Parts: sequence; C-alpha cells; structure tokens
Amino acid sequence: MRIRSARITGFRNLDDVELVFSPGVNVLLGDNGQGKTNLLEALDYLSLGRSHRGARNEELVRLGGDHLHVTVEIERDDGSSLRGEFGLDRGGSRRIKLDGQPVTRRADLVGQLSTVFFSPDSVDLVRGGPELRRRFADQGLCGLDGDYLAALTAYQRSMRQKSRLLRDVRRGFRTEHEARRELTAWNEDLAGHATVIGRRRREWAGELAGPATEAYAHLAGRDTPLTIDHQSRLEALDEVDESAPIMQLERDILAEFAYIGPEEIRRGRPLTGPHLDDFGVRLGELDLRVYGSQGETRSAAVAMILAQSDVVYGRRRVRPVLFLDDIFSELDRDRARRLQERCAHDHQVFIATARPDDVDGWAPDEMAVWRVENGRLITLS
Ligand SMILES: Nc1ncnc2c1ncn2[C@@H]1O[C@H](COP(=O)(O)OP(=O)(O)OP(=O)(O)O)[C@@H](O)[C@H]1O
Ligand SMILES: [Mg+2]
Repeated sequence: MRIRSARITGFRNLDDVELVFSPGVNVLLGDNGQGKTNLLEALDYLSLGRSHRGARNEELVRLGGDHLHVTVEIERDDGSSLRGEFGLDRGGSRRIKLDGQPVTRRADLVGQLSTVFFSPDSVDLVRGGPELRRRFADQGLCGLDGDYLAALTAYQRSMRQKSRLLRDVRRGFRTEHEARRELTAWNEDLAGHATVIGRRRREWAGELAGPATEAYAHLAGRDTPLTIDHQSRLEALDEVDESAPIMQLERDILAEFAYIGPEEIRRGRPLTGPHLDDFGVRLGELDLRVYGSQGETRSAAVAMILAQSDVVYGRRRVRPVLFLDDIFSELDRDRARRLQERCAHDHQVFIATARPDDVDGWAPDEMAVWRVENGRLITLS
C-alpha cells in the first residue's frame, strides 16, 4: 500500500501543502521544529483516526486558524485507489470520509490505511515501562482488528467509570454497600472486554516473535530467537488454557475481579486488568527488559516494530506504509543502514531527519527528497 499524494491545509504549522510522493523512499530533511513530524502525523492520521503521538484533535488545528483539512490519495497493492479525507474544527468537530462517504466509527477505518510508525522514543520500547509496550501492542492490534479496537475503547470507558466509583467510595461520597452492586455490573462488563483484549494480545505476541527474530538477525547480525510473551496480572489471562471455551475464560476473569473487589474498595482504585498488562521480551533466555545492553534493547525494539509490518502482511496481505521519524541517530551507522535497506525493500517509506548524514550515500531506486522549512516543503530531488 502507498500514499500517492496529499493535500494538507491548516494542520499545525503546515499551512497549504500539496505533494506527490515517491512509491519508494520519501525523505524529509529539515532543522528542528520545521514541520517534519507534523507532516508524518498528518499522513498517518487516518490509519487509526487519531494522532500517532496522542495529541488532542484541537491541537492539530493551526494556531490562529479554525479549521484543518487533509486529503490523501491511497493506492492499494491491487492498483485500486482510495481517497481519504479528514477535517477538524477548533471547536472539536471532526469529519472523516473515505471515497466521499462519511465514516463515523474509528473501527470502520481499520485496514484502510495500514501504517507502522517509528518515533524517536521507539528505541525505548524494550527498556522503558510497560505502558510503552502496551501502547505498541494497542496501536498494532487496533490497526488490524476492529473487534479489538471496539473492545479496548469500551474497556477503557468502563474502567474510567469503575475508577471513579472506587475513588468516590474512598472519599466517602458513596457508601461501600451502595457501590458493591455497581462494581459488580462494571466488572461483568469489563470481564467481557478483557477476554477479547487478552486473547488477541496473546495471539499477536505469538505472531510477532518469528518476524522479530528474523528482523533482529538482520539488524544485529545475531541469530538468536527474540520472543515476546503476553504477561497479565489476571491469572486467567497469564496461563490461558487455549482449549478452554471463551465463556470459561470470561467467568474466570470475572471471578478474579470479584476476589480482588474488597481490596480495590479499601485502596480506592482498580488493581487488576489488561490496562496493567506487560509483554516480556527475551533474546534467547535473556530477559532484555532487565539484562539487555543498550544496543541489544534498541535493536530488539526496532526489530519488534519492523516485525509489526510482517504481522500486518501475514493477516491482510498488505505492506503497510512505514514512517521513520528521526530514529537513525539512536542507532549505530551500520544498523541504521540495514534498517533503511530492509524498510525500502518492499514498502513505501517516509523518513524524517534533521541530519542529512543519516541518508547520505543511500540511493534506492525510487527516492524523493524534500527540505522542510517553517511548514513549507521544497523539492530537492
Ligand atoms: N497547532 C499548531 N499551530 C501552529 N504551529 C504548530 C502547531 N503545533 C505545533 N506547531 C509548530 O510546529 C513545529 C514543530 O513541528 P515538528 O514537530 O513537525 O518539528 P520537526 O521538524 O519534526 O522538528 P524536530 O526535528 O525537532 O523533531 C513547532 O515549531 C511548533 O511550534
Ligand atoms: Mg520531529
């Protein structure tokens, strides 16, 4: 899949930009703060119907403006095209269209524009806290699976309600007796969503391991298995009996929620659930989160993200568009070059960097280069 062209108006510091992209490598050069990441953010937006950096929609509207509009022409691997559009108002209203048809649910965007995003903090994926790995899993899975996106959204909404309820009890705004019934209702709702989230995360981690091992071998020149395993505080999810029926799993999760309920009331906050999951990352027998060297954890992080593209391909037979935002400075030159070559092999790639050295001497078959200056793009080649 590739993005053939884009028209961007009023998106952050990008005032009015019209671009036709290379089907191969697109390089955005420019000093800090010129609009490189903004451009990638605008191009990626329709993949999940949100900013990849978690920015609120209002923040995307150009300061001093009231409206932004972005149109991207997408070409699928079978040669067909899709016109994706989104418009946001400063007031918060949003319109998304695919081929002129309004889209109201984010789940309807799933699979229309597949992307994999490398941000500057991607290299911390293995060494950083569990929230980074959860976010990575969520981004990957939401882009693949509408049921997952729906379950995650519903889970997060109900979890916020449950947290509020527990807080209210702790502060004495609600009695424990009153809260218990409501808590049971939230737990029943949460157990259903947690079942979907847990199972899908587990499957996804399993699918990631093969391609991650392969990518790691390519990047680091070391052929050791890289395994990723889903770890949950819910025992029912941590030791899933694959043959057990889904209903059984949901019942087990609900039983765990019920068991920990009195402790949650005492402490005034939820104590278990997929929002606290983690993913173990092992190189051979070594737990990289604890024992990995800086270079190992960085390479493993990049390999995991790259592997996400193979998972997308495995499930959908689509090569996602890759965005590499300023990550080469975090890798040694050798690894950076191997990453570039591997990405460019069969993907459309967008690379943003403030250091022209990062791509110096690299000449893939199809390549376009721009300089980004204060929200404007100047074609260099
Ligand atoms: N809503 C907005 N309206 C206008 N300008 C904005 C808005 N949001 C961000 N900016 C500006 O966009 C610029 C940042 O752009 P961006 O993050 O794309 O930089 P960059 O080229 O990626 O830089 P770096 O190399 O430091 O990552 C900043 O100067 C910021 O002030
Ligand atoms: Mg940037």
